[in-house]
Amino acid sequence: MTTTTHATSEHPTDWSALVRTEPHPSPASDEKRTQALRAPAFGTCFTDHMVLVDWTRDAGWTDPRLVPLGPLPLHPAAAVLHYGQEVFEGLKVYRHPDGRLVAFRPDRNAVRLRRSARRLALPEVPEGLFHAAVDALVAADHAWVPSGPGDSLYLRPFVVASEAFLGVRAADAALFGVIASPAGAYFHAGVDGISLWLSTTYSRAGRGGTGAAKCGGNYAASLVAQQEAAEHGCAQVLFTDAETGRWVEEAGSMNLFAVLADGTLVTPPTTGTILEGVTRDSVLRLAADLGYATQERPFGVDEWTRLAASGELTEVFATGTAAVITPVVRLVSADAVVETPTVGFGPVARRLHAELTGMQFGTVPDRFGWLREVGAH
Ligand SMILES: Cc1ncc(COP(=O)(O)O)c(C=O)c1O
Repeated sequence: MTTTTHATSEHPTDWSALVRTEPHPSPASDEKRTQALRAPAFGTCFTDHMVLVDWTRDAGWTDPRLVPLGPLPLHPAAAVLHYGQEVFEGLKVYRHPDGRLVAFRPDRNAVRLRRSARRLALPEVPEGLFHAAVDALVAADHAWVPSGPGDSLYLRPFVVASEAFLGVRAADAALFGVIASPAGAYFHAGVDGISLWLSTTYSRAGRGGTGAAKCGGNYAASLVAQQEAAEHGCAQVLFTDAETGRWVEEAGSMNLFAVLADGTLVTPPTTGTILEGVTRDSVLRLAADLGYATQERPFGVDEWTRLAASGELTEVFATGTAAVITPVVRLVSADAVVETPTVGFGPVARRLHAELTGMQFGTVPDRFGWLREVGAH
């Protein structure tokens, strides 16, 4: 049976009751799964199932279904393939010592997916549908949530324009999907820290552009800058503002923080050109709770250079769901290398990392109500 519904905030639909289940006829064997979970690399192996939901402008969201993971039935003229009308999310599910599976602030990802969708003229996934999809997938593939230290199940919700036509307009049909991938450490050099390449050739986002949206096009446009970073021995690219190149924005897939000698945390403001990271917001709230001063304000490359030289800047770190908190040990540009005074985790980054990952893994109390149990089975 196909379910059709237009949920409104006044009449929320119980989406979880509507998800149709088509179990995988031949899921991965215990042996194969155990092998895959032993040392999961990031984003290379996927669980047995996926959730798909159709949308059309006339019918709204229809037929939420949990089905075996497999290729999508996309017409070669599907709008996403030509015009890049696509948005996505990334969040993690952790296995707690008491056996519960919990997602970290999935409500923030649901909100951001809707905001990204608005910017890309895609349909907004109702929050209830987002959570029902996550729940259904984690319940079906709960055995894929790893239990090794630092390991988790990474979820990738996405919305793509699926209508088949050629022409530049918002598609009248879309597909919402969620897939899952067991994840271990993101950067191999994570503990020692990473180097950032200051790109002066490429910009990530301009005023009025899509910088604040999590859309595929932003990442496609960043790849060549990322290649340039790699050619200079750096793990990530640092993007500055498109107009002047003076102001720090963010790394290719992470937000940035500088720590001053008095313990103040400084991070660039979210004025439309950077992604509002869930980890960034969590670090800001956690840091304030721990008694650190926090500043969301423009932070210049020249200030970074000057304060690092004088010792007034003590730590730099990057934040993101995939790598949580990663120390930045140097900023490399065509004519200078700015070393961060602290190599590896400094005391502030270490404390925030310990608190945040402690909450995520269930060893530190969740005093902000950030965890949501998912996939009860
Ligand atoms: C461009 C960009 N900035 C920042 C982030 C960090 O966001 P979050 O903490 O929500 O993972 C990401 C990762 O999703 C990203 O891709």
